[in-house]
Amino acid sequence: KDSYVVTLLPGDGIGPEITAATKIVLEALCEKCGFTLELREALIGGAAIDAANDPFPQESLDQCLNSDSVLLACIGGYKWDNNPRDLRPESGLLKMRKEMGLFANLRPAKVLPQLLDASTLKREVVEGVDVMVVRELTGDVYFGTPKGIDIIDGQRVGYNNMIYSESEIDRIARVAGDVASKRGSKLCSVDKANVLDVSQLWRDVVTDVINKDFPSVELSHMYVDNAAMQLIRWPKQFDTIVCGNIFGDILSDEASMLVGSLGMLPSASIGESGPGVFEPCHGSAPDIAGQDKANPLAMILSAAMMLQYDLDRAEEAKMLEDAVEAVLDQKLRTPDIKQDNDGCKLVGCREMGEAVASVIMAMEEIKV
Ligand code: NAD
Ligand code: IPM
Ligand code: MN
Repeated sequence: KDSYVVTLLPGDGIGPEITAATKIVLEALCEKCGFTLELREALIGGAAIDAANDPFPQESLDQCLNSDSVLLACIGGYKWDNNPRDLRPESGLLKMRKEMGLFANLRPAKVLPQLLDASTLKREVVEGVDVMVVRELTGDVYFGTPKGIDIIDGQRVGYNNMIYSESEIDRIARVAGDVASKRGSKLCSVDKANVLDVSQLWRDVVTDVINKDFPSVELSHMYVDNAAMQLIRWPKQFDTIVCGNIFGDILSDEASMLVGSLGMLPSASIGESGPGVFEPCHGSAPDIAGQDKANPLAMILSAAMMLQYDLDRAEEAKMLEDAVEAVLDQKLRTPDIKQDNDGCKLVGCREMGEAVASVIMAMEEIKV
């Protein structure tokens, strides 16, 4: 196959800017490698609320489901923060993940040698770090019921339900076991089993699955509070981490600072079958939106994960990753990864995208 349909979801805030930069890169890659990506845009998030009064319209869902893959930028913004829950951008993102069955979210935090000083942590702590967070994505307190804000005994009470079924834990444990066995074969399951019943079940099921079906994977368990600390103290002790939805959300943002910026962290959201959604870990960064300051590399690296996981184009994925390293070797830096007196050139989002595209155009052609 040499032609693919990809749904592109630019979303909100810096979304349109990083999407434009990523498009330039993908167009260069297609030209270089002789395949076609038909990029079809669709609405999600605040943009969809404004246009269709729905954060993830049925039309967008249909379009995603009828694609080979989906590439998402980011959603959200102050403008919609006081909307009712079902009319918030975040609800659209969650609906997309749920309806598309994307229960596994792979969030790699791999420290690049060019960015050793971009982290706020010491060099010796971050050098060589390569952690994969496998985050469950369609369960947990994000989707549990009952939920709401009610009046109880004359005051407002807010509640959500942290809940996992055995089958939900089983399937994410299998993804994590598989991912770990293809990496360093070390899996750390993160939970709060000392306090939460839902975590005790999590620990029991993960232990069963890994011991029974992934005997070559070395499994350990860690409480989430300790894991948050250990990730900063000595991140090289981790290879693959598996955790529930909310712990994974928090730990992956934390892991981004090992790499140096949230603007560098890609992710892959995948299910049992059908197209995946490839999305940076970061949000819409409203504080820098519209200023050409955003780092597009997280989205460009997410496109690399799309080529690898959904389009079966591992070589092209590698070309993208190499091109990203090459622009860092050229000492180009967006503000989030720029240090004082580092001898690097400060560039905007667009220039960063264009630089990645020109590196690709100058690369050796892949022989078919
Ligand atoms: P955020 O990830 O948008 O931003 C956190 C910080 O990181 C900000 O200082 C921002 O400027 C910076 N940052 C993020 N991405 C960057 C990039 N590519 N380049 C340079 N700097 C970058 O998180 P937030 O501020 O807590 O949330 C803002 C909005 O985004 C909220 O509406 C939130 O719900 C939403 N959000 C969406 C997603 C998503 O679309 N997947 C993820 C997280 C947050
Ligand atoms: C992420 C975001 C989302 C999440 C929000 C915006 C719903 O933080 O993709 O990490 O919590 O999953
Ligand atoms: Mn998050």
